[in-house]
Amino acid sequence: MSFKKIKNNVFYAGMNDEGRLLFDELIPLDHGTSYNSYVIKGSQKTAVIDTMYPKFTKEYLKSFDENSITKVDYIIANHGEQDHSGSIPAMLDKFPDAVVVTNAVCANNLKEMLLIPEEKIKIISNNEELSLGDTTLQFIIAPGVHWPDTMFTYIKESNIICTCDFLGAHYIFDDVFASPSKELERSAKKYFAEIMMPFSFLCRKYTKQLKEMKVDMILPSHGPVHNNPDYILNLYEDWAGEKGKNLVLLPFVSMYNSTHEMIDYLANKLEEKGIPSYKYDMVDGNLGDLAIALVDGSTIVLGTSMVLAGPHPAAFNTVYLASILRPKAKTASFIGSYGWGGNLFGKMTEMLAPLKMDIIEPILVKGRAKIEDYKKLDKMTDEIYEKHKAIGLI
Ligand code: FEO
Repeated sequence: MSFKKIKNNVFYAGMNDEGRLLFDELIPLDHGTSYNSYVIKGSQKTAVIDTMYPKFTKEYLKSFDENSITKVDYIIANHGEQDHSGSIPAMLDKFPDAVVVTNAVCANNLKEMLLIPEEKIKIISNNEELSLGDTTLQFIIAPGVHWPDTMFTYIKESNIICTCDFLGAHYIFDDVFASPSKELERSAKKYFAEIMMPFSFLCRKYTKQLKEMKVDMILPSHGPVHNNPDYILNLYEDWAGEKGKNLVLLPFVSMYNSTHEMIDYLANKLEEKGIPSYKYDMVDGNLGDLAIALVDGSTIVLGTSMVLAGPHPAAFNTVYLASILRPKAKTASFIGSYGWGGNLFGKMTEMLAPLKMDIIEPILVKGRAKIEDYKKLDKMTDEIYEKHKAIGLI
């Protein structure tokens, strides 16, 4: 495999994982993923930025022989997670004089997760520089986008920056450079939702910083290289922004259609008021679709049947997912139907408490909704309308 030239003495040495269907054993992948690694051939030293997912270590190491790289001086670890650091031990075996360069938090992770000896690690501080001869690497420690150990590496003379997982996408490609498309945008948005959305305020900070740096290219650790940085930075400005869209999310699970009927009724009423909604089947739906919708939705109304004496497990799963992804929705409620009794909404309301959302009075129905229940749904529609109007969405 030939390394692909990106700019000057910077080369792409990553690999595509076309067959990968799930990341973090959680979010389905539409297009597999890539594990990006970059080689910088300085006039005096050679550096590698991030390595490889362990499954591909053998092929990755071989690619250094195929590209006549006989010496690596520095292995830069922008982040300790093993989809990027997993091949460092094998790299140190192959290039025994190489030194791992990273920040203190990541160094600790590498020691704990990969048993890399302390004497093989050089710890750098924020903004510290490392010379490769004619090329200078500058390290920007960026905790929170997405692990506490995350950092960026800025290649000064080329004015390009390796941003690790930040601004990435689970997306495979032949050409190393991004071609804007609906598919790429969907993958990048899903990736943002799963990995970055809980830290949206930090995404805003680093998006602004990168815009101000006016870099020529962004080299993430998954997905294509952005040689038009504004494409991905503008998307992040939108996705990580504080305000959602005029959109209500309606995740539902319904055993005998009673809850489904109420969700359909609510969707129609919202539509009449000029509020689009997104219905999501929590049993048969693709979790990636829900994650994407969570980036935009301003209100979430979850519908669930009672199973035994509590919510359907799929409802718990969705509420838990929302509680950890920390979407920008500011309003939530529940609707549901039961047969003989129990507590349908109590635990789910508790789970949402850390998000500090306004909770509209939930609607609980025995069996099928009746005239008074439809009146409650009309009232819920009005309340959602007023809340969207109050924050300028309508
Ligand atoms: Fe957090 Fe792609 O690793």
